[in-house]
Amino acid sequence: MHAEIANKRWGGRLTSRPLPERDPALEALTDEQRAQLVAVWIGRAASERRVADAFETIHGALQSVRTDSSLRALAARAVDDELRHAELCRVVASRYAGRELAPPAPLTLVLPQHRGAPARLVATLHVLGHCAMNETFASAFLEASFACADAALARAALRELLSDEIDHARIGWAHLAELGDHQRAEIAPWIESLVYANLKMWRDTPRASVTHPLLQRHGAPGAQVIESALVGAIRELILPGLARFRLSTPSLERWLAAGAPTAASHSSAKALEPQICCSV
Ligand SMILES: [Fe+2]
Ligand SMILES: [Fe+2]
Repeated sequence: MHAEIANKRWGGRLTSRPLPERDPALEALTDEQRAQLVAVWIGRAASERRVADAFETIHGALQSVRTDSSLRALAARAVDDELRHAELCRVVASRYAGRELAPPAPLTLVLPQHRGAPARLVATLHVLGHCAMNETFASAFLEASFACADAALARAALRELLSDEIDHARIGWAHLAELGDHQRAEIAPWIESLVYANLKMWRDTPRASVTHPLLQRHGAPGAQVIESALVGAIRELILPGLARFRLSTPSLERWLAAGAPTAASHSSAKALEPQICCSV
């Protein structure tokens, strides 16, 4: 792991490009608006830190199911990426606070057990659930956040986060692409619950409340923007990805057409199992 993690992005710098030193939109905010944005960005720092822990698990999972090192190296770099994301979000929160903030308290990582799955499948389900699902949702969430953001600091930070999350999602899709027919048949019954459970996790994740639409300019999109991004990710990224790798999607398409319900009455028991964690 340590040799692989030496492959850091940006020569160890926090960002590919320096963050803007001044942001007139930030300077125009009220104290209350700034406090809301501090809560958003420091909450994001805590989530990103927990995702670094999740990628330690993913790295171990890839080690157990793959003989080649290419995706393992990407997962090792993802640990470093997520640590940088946590620090970047803390730096942004500090800029909104107008003072240096300490890193937030760590969040607990809970691994989905995938009860009933053969032990040999659990590692692959962790990789697919965390990378192909969670990181794809994270990419869509950040893309929607970026589209709403025109304040210089938030826009620069979101651009940095987004470019890495797309790579993280690819780890899951690349692993799925390379599964043999037998393994693909074994995971097929689990795919729907992975999609349901990840969407439910993203919908249910507590987020710092933002009371003013102006704040979406600073990377805090409203609930409707987030919901559209999540459902759009299923329609435009996840279902086409599954179909491309010969997994059945018609029942997911019907569920999506019905509004993608994630309440308990619409989901299987497996679907309610907590997933690894939400990126943002
Ligand atoms: Fe991240
Ligand atoms: Fe990520």
